[in-house]
Amino acid sequence: MALRCDLIIRDATILNGTGAPRFTGDVGVTNDRIVGVGDLSAASADKEIIATGRALAPGFIDAHTHDDRAVLCGPGCLTCKSSQGVTSVVVGNCGVSISPGRFAKRPPPPLDLVGDDTNFLFDSFADYAEALKQTPAAVNTYALVGHQTLRALVMGDACLTRGATDAEIGRMRAYVAEAMASGASGFSTGLWYKPNMHATTAEVMAVAEPLKAAGGLYTTHMRDEADAVCASIEETAKIGARLGIQVHISHHKCSMPENYGRSTQTLALLEQFGRTQDIAFDVYPYPAGSTVLMPDRLRDDLRVIVAWSNPFPEMAGKDLADIARGWNTDLRAAAEKLLPAGAITFQMEEEDVRRIMAHPMSVIGSDGIPHDVFPHPRLWGTFPRVLGYYSRHLGLFSLETAVHKMTGRTAELFGMVDRGVIRTGAYADLVLFDPHTVLDRATFEQPTIPSQGIEQVWTNGVSTYVGDTGMTGAAPGRLIRRNRG
Ligand code: ZN
Ligand code: CU
Repeated sequence: MALRCDLIIRDATILNGTGAPRFTGDVGVTNDRIVGVGDLSAASADKEIIATGRALAPGFIDAHTHDDRAVLCGPGCLTCKSSQGVTSVVVGNCGVSISPGRFAKRPPPPLDLVGDDTNFLFDSFADYAEALKQTPAAVNTYALVGHQTLRALVMGDACLTRGATDAEIGRMRAYVAEAMASGASGFSTGLWYKPNMHATTAEVMAVAEPLKAAGGLYTTHMRDEADAVCASIEETAKIGARLGIQVHISHHKCSMPENYGRSTQTLALLEQFGRTQDIAFDVYPYPAGSTVLMPDRLRDDLRVIVAWSNPFPEMAGKDLADIARGWNTDLRAAAEKLLPAGAITFQMEEEDVRRIMAHPMSVIGSDGIPHDVFPHPRLWGTFPRVLGYYSRHLGLFSLETAVHKMTGRTAELFGMVDRGVIRTGAYADLVLFDPHTVLDRATFEQPTIPSQGIEQVWTNGVSTYVGDTGMTGAAPGRLIRRNRG
């Protein structure tokens, strides 16, 4: 009997996510799954799309996000992600998760990246999982719980000044265990930040301990990405080896001018650890970072753009140096006045960014910050930028490799079963794009312009975004959980 599908995309150039060479063929979808790949000329469907000359890939997986709150904003939002072809996001990175957390006052930075006290509403991870079910998004959510959030929750202001006591470690560990039992996939740290920097390696290992039995993933914004970047990689590897768990370094970089070029060293070190343990990293395709504005970490030799400021919202998008000049003061004093605030800092070398991106161990993550008034352009541009600029224009790697780093490899590392690949039986997370025109358009001057060349996006078989008309309003996203069995 001839196959009957809900949807057939015909004559597409298929990049199946594994890195294998592209081929021309059809893809059939019924309900939330791919039911056929190849020559489906004998099959029919309720809806057919002729995709001659266009590329069909697994929906992109954003390996590093701060979309914890954004995924709860309901159908039709998260245009910044769907318009790039993203169908799954990893939330709870850098030690910052929106759950479990509840605070009587504004939580310390950088927790306020994901919201102020009015947004931390989850006493347990189970409550967050339930909220995702009640108000799903256009994308799937894969969640980590953050050490910074747990420290602020359990220790209060003391998280800023000292290590945790045994009793506090016990409470944090219980939260991690509860989260893992309720649908979380791992635990993250942000050891560079004040609420996390007083946690010793021993504290991290003690709190992360439930990951071992639960098969969870440890991700980290490392203690240092500048002078001590190699020592930080060693600390990360040690945590993984001692606990016998997989570790993943967030937004790998060599930060600050005096460390430019050191990615040859860091990548060699990562390869060395990779021979004996599970270790990998993500990277975003820009030579500037973005986080909360931290006056004590400013340097005169780095350009800083203000991403948001609560007391001076009109300063978003302006250079800190210009603001300081206008106020007749120095950078630090100007920054103090702007707090709480966010910043974009030009602190990497393009050569390092390319070397890290091209390395076979890397995957792509945006690190976009969805609530910033004037966000880093990575929020809107990351995935089309890798496809259009780094792969097609510069030839840094093939389109097959670019797609693999955004789909199949990411799904494998994070344990997203039946995702990130186009094959019969896999979930129908798909993106149709024009490989000749796909490109980011968001810039440091105009950071919220949607990309070009993304034609249609499906999450779990449901159309979420159409290039000509925008978001469909559908919200088929689910909480997905790690399984590496
Ligand atoms: Zn980070
Ligand atoms: Cu981050």
